[in-house]
Amino acid sequence: EEERKQHWFVGSIDQGTTSSRFLIFNGEGDPVASHQIEFKNLYPKSGWHEHEPLELLSSVEQCIEEAMRKFGDLGYSKSDIRSIGITNQRETTVVWDTTTGEPLYNAIVWPDTRTKTIVRDLKSREMADSLTELCGLPLSTYPSSVKLLWLLQNVDEVKQAYEEGRLAFGTVDSWLIYKLNGGAGAEKPVHVTDSTNASRTMFMNLRTLQYDDKLLGFFGIDKNKIKLPKIVPSSDPECFGKVASGALAGVPIAGCLGDQSSALVGQCGFSPGQAKNTYGTGCFLLYNVGTEPVISKYGLLATVAYDFGRGRKPVYALEGSIAVAGSGVKFLMNNLGFVKESSEITALAESVKDNGGVVFVTAFSGLFAPYWIDDAKGTLFGITQHTTKAHIARATLEATCYQTRAILEAMEKDSGHKLESLAVDGGLSNSDLCMQTQADISGIPVDRPLMRETTALGAAIAAGLATGVWRELDDLKEVNRAGRKVFQPIMKRDKAEKLFRKWEQAVEMSRGWVKD
Ligand code: G3P
Repeated sequence: EEERKQHWFVGSIDQGTTSSRFLIFNGEGDPVASHQIEFKNLYPKSGWHEHEPLELLSSVEQCIEEAMRKFGDLGYSKSDIRSIGITNQRETTVVWDTTTGEPLYNAIVWPDTRTKTIVRDLKSREMADSLTELCGLPLSTYPSSVKLLWLLQNVDEVKQAYEEGRLAFGTVDSWLIYKLNGGAGAEKPVHVTDSTNASRTMFMNLRTLQYDDKLLGFFGIDKNKIKLPKIVPSSDPECFGKVASGALAGVPIAGCLGDQSSALVGQCGFSPGQAKNTYGTGCFLLYNVGTEPVISKYGLLATVAYDFGRGRKPVYALEGSIAVAGSGVKFLMNNLGFVKESSEITALAESVKDNGGVVFVTAFSGLFAPYWIDDAKGTLFGITQHTTKAHIARATLEATCYQTRAILEAMEKDSGHKLESLAVDGGLSNSDLCMQTQADISGIPVDRPLMRETTALGAAIAAGLATGVWRELDDLKEVNRAGRKVFQPIMKRDKAEKLFRKWEQAVEMSRGWVKD
């Protein structure tokens, strides 16, 4: 048993919105080697957000090479790695040519809003209101379906490939798995996705976990013309294939989870009623609802939390998605030049005792949950001669905390259950100020693990469960429990309520801009 914990390793590719990483975990869930690379985020027009699919792949491959070198320096080798898992930014849409295996356009990234008019038109169609019941998601610019529609309507190469039956569609997991297996040159090309990622496309039926003809029909997608990835469980020793080349050549890919599902798994949120909030580029709260999906009435999404297969029932979550969290800090740094490193934001925000009356509705991609206001724009309220960069920095951090509070209220209404404590992770969770603010605004304790690579750990768990590193969820009881820090709410409740009401007023005032 000790041997298994100490000397069996699982790798994890974490392909996020701003960086890629590869981490290697031991059987106790501790990372022993890792590497991270940032890649280009392209904003070719206002509201557009793209990645180069080949750069996503090469960043992942470089991370693997570097982390494996560090692993080698510790005296280990590829043969010590049982399998690897993949976790990824969700919804981001890649299209490629099945004959060449090469991308046909840049990836359209999840917060991109170029599909605004497509969404407006779709909303007026018959059946538009019944989609959520089938797939768990409301119509918005967020899911992959509308991104694919834009590509089919606007890019000639994509249209032609579709007409000629050589167009492949995938989210980032599918793209990476396909390429890591050798792409078009593989003996048997592997084109799959797991159900957590598929649940973000709007093409999958949440109950059958398969493509739904009604959904495909609504978007006008002809499944005989397009190659859609096969939907498989998140944990499986065979269906994701093997790495074809490089430092991991021959190692099985055995786990795949969308990054937010992966963070829930990495926090070991396996029981109904458990929730986690991940402060990454965006911020996503997932609440485990058990083995039956709950369709939200209050602006949340229903999604697959994880699906470990082999006779286990899939587990569902209610999700509150916030489009801007870390990207708000990046905006202050890159666009406004407030700081040189993201980590300096907390110190800047802490240099003032409060927000000085400033509220920043960071609606750069409209507002997501629980509001779903497509036409909201980023808006700063309450500026006076007294306002400094520090107040705006503070208001930027607070924006994510207010939206989290609004999501918690929606979750309480949908589930009839009040969350007792919120497990957190992701880049911004490193900010004590932000986490204390979160506890104060939401009035519940915020519980932060010492090891915050929970997203990567989740995919490692999915892979490790498929390849014997862990046999059952019970084996994970001790994983990531040590050294957690709890932030208790200390702000007076009436003060917190007043701040939150101000935020709600600001949200109302950020909507209804003149249409583009
Ligand atoms: O739905 C988008 C989400 O998966 C992106 O996550 O961590 O890059 O903000 P993150």
